[in-house]
Amino acid sequence: MRVDVVSIFGEYLAPLSLSLIGKARAQGLLDVRVHDLREHTHDRHRTVDDTPYGGGAGLLMKPEPWGEALDAVLADPPGDAGGDGPVLLVPSPVGEVFTQAVAVELAAEPWLVFACGRYEGIDARVAEHYRSRGVRVREVSLGDYVLNGGEVAVLVVVEAVARLLPGVVGNAASLAEESHAAEHDGLLEHPAYTKPASWRGLEVPAVLSSGDHGAVARWRREQALRRTARRRPDLLARLDPARCSAADRAVLAEEGYVPDAHGFGPAPSPVAD
Ligand code: ADE
Repeated sequence: MRVDVVSIFGEYLAPLSLSLIGKARAQGLLDVRVHDLREHTHDRHRTVDDTPYGGGAGLLMKPEPWGEALDAVLADPPGDAGGDGPVLLVPSPVGEVFTQAVAVELAAEPWLVFACGRYEGIDARVAEHYRSRGVRVREVSLGDYVLNGGEVAVLVVVEAVARLLPGVVGNAASLAEESHAAEHDGLLEHPAYTKPASWRGLEVPAVLSSGDHGAVARWRREQALRRTARRRPDLLARLDPARCSAADRAVLAEEGYVPDAHGFGPAPSPVAD
């Protein structure tokens, strides 16, 4: 997979040389190229920002350097890009929320281009222009909070996507068991333990050393359901009742959730008589 990142703080992307991502790059599984937006300015101060039309606080990134920088990146496609061109990702607090499902979609792409905004973001015409040229533009948000720029989001998205590429994570089976995996019905993962069996008076649940694989699987499923119900009930709204056994439904009912039109929602409170 080829990844191009345009930023005014290329040093921010240095962690992409470390750990599994660094190894994937060394093995040729991932080709990351960082480009300096300021190379595409033409004034003495290498200006990339200006005040917003209509007034208001803060500065916006000007469209001209972005147009030049992105045109240069798009003019140099990887050999295996296919006909669709890249997905242009613009990290922004007003984007769609970046989830594991989005990571899975992006992992199937041969080429991702990131445009890292700073200040109050990038002039809205930049995304509009590349959309009008047929580029698939996705504005993505890490969550409901505001960062100083898109670079941290690039680190997050590249790590989440690259670990899904074949050969990046040693044991591919582990990916299917993780929190948020579709194979795991999008649930949070069950609690996990390693040796010693007893630590500071806390014991590992006996079922995990029972050797009864069926009982272990049932315990883990129950824990995943209870944890998700208590911590992230919003995820239960997307849990397909058709994929839930009678035992699953009983656990969720104990936690106060019953099937509704889409997934599972809070059980209606009893009507007082
Ligand atoms: N840039 C600023 N805030 C952001 C957020 N929440 N997610 C992604 N990029 C951002």
